[in-house]
Amino acid sequence: MPFAHITGWGMHVPELILTNDDISKLVDTNDEWIRDHTGIRERRIAREHEFPSTLGVEAALKALQVANLAPTELDLIICTSSSPEYFFPATACLIQDQIGATKAGAFDLQAACTGFIFSMNMAAQAIRSGSIKSALVVGTETLSRFVDWKDRNTCILFGDGAGAFVLQASDKPGGVISAVMHSDGSGADALILPGGGTRFPATEATIHEGKHFIQMDGKEVFRFATRVMGQAVLEALEPAKLTLDDIQWIVPHQANFRIIKTAAKYLKMSLDKFIINVDRYGNTSTASIPIAAVDALQKGQIKPGDKIVLVGFGAGLTWGAMVVEWTGPIPAKKHIRTEPYRLFARLRSLLRRIWRRIEGFLSSKEV
Ligand SMILES: CC(C)(COP(=O)(O)OP(=O)(O)OC[C@H]1O[C@@H](n2cnc3c(N)ncnc32)[C@H](O)[C@@H]1OP(=O)(O)O)[C@@H](O)C(=O)NCCC(=O)NCCS
Repeated sequence: MPFAHITGWGMHVPELILTNDDISKLVDTNDEWIRDHTGIRERRIAREHEFPSTLGVEAALKALQVANLAPTELDLIICTSSSPEYFFPATACLIQDQIGATKAGAFDLQAACTGFIFSMNMAAQAIRSGSIKSALVVGTETLSRFVDWKDRNTCILFGDGAGAFVLQASDKPGGVISAVMHSDGSGADALILPGGGTRFPATEATIHEGKHFIQMDGKEVFRFATRVMGQAVLEALEPAKLTLDDIQWIVPHQANFRIIKTAAKYLKMSLDKFIINVDRYGNTSTASIPIAAVDALQKGQIKPGDKIVLVGFGAGLTWGAMVVEWTGPIPAKKHIRTEPYRLFARLRSLLRRIWRRIEGFLSSKEV
């Protein structure tokens, strides 16, 4: 049975920075309160021309560059987002088109902030089963567009950005070792974007009632998160036959510094073993785990051979954890430059659109 290795990683965040002081001009809050209660100092906000697919494409191409893998070699793309570009088509298909992943199947997976763990597990299982050889997992968000900038309960928390991992099959042991996934829909109301689905399709009334904004019971989510995070880490270690002493790094979902601190206390682990960058990016939902991991890799914290645990939680309610032995890129003779693939993808997309029109025209003549 092949092993599923993480061979590439990339992140991309918008340039625009929104500080706590900036938010204090919008709602009754202040830098000190936000830092004390969440650990967040600033977050990135997408500009009008930035979307989940555009941020996701940047992260994906960086990840493919690290993996030294051409987009055309990808078998599968899973995109996970709490702020997808459309209801349909899937954001994964937009990314597939923009990077020129000509043979990849692409779909979205929705598990809110736990989406990256769930998607990684699905991609790893597909590789372990032998049905595919490579996969790209992208977490990408422009959640700022779902935030009510008059609600101080939520607008201080979220930020935009994208992170991506490439997974590849190898006979060498390592990579994704184990994972656990959990859900509890009885807590669906605790964190919800009620409008725009089929329960509350967009109408003047739903817009007026603010149903298209994130609604959250902060205390309830806080209690849930602190309860499940530590447990999920221990649960994922069990099938891997590892203990916390074997683990070099925990990469938690970056929602709130206090939640991470409580998890560290529960696990009786030093906070130094936790990768934390919530101060700079806020809660980027599905993108927070890969963004934190890429940050740690760039600082030289995570190294090949390290055993790490990714752990997340979010709306649903959902939570999960994954144990990984970090390996890095598979040594290769050839060196791929991903930039030409972006240009090729644009041209290919344009030609396919034109060809579809011609086909439509010809078939209408036949009828
Ligand atoms: C949202 C959150 C930061 C609020 O922190 P908290 O310590 O629970 O704060 P409370 O709601 O108890 O509010 C405490 C006080 O601060 C006030 N307050 C709330 N938000 C505030 C803000 N942004 N700025 C200033 N004051 C604020 C409240 O009105 C309250 O005032 P009161 O005591 O006079 O009534 C916290 O509950 C949290 O992080 N929850 C988890 C959210 C999360 O992670 N969501 C994403 C999951 S993927």
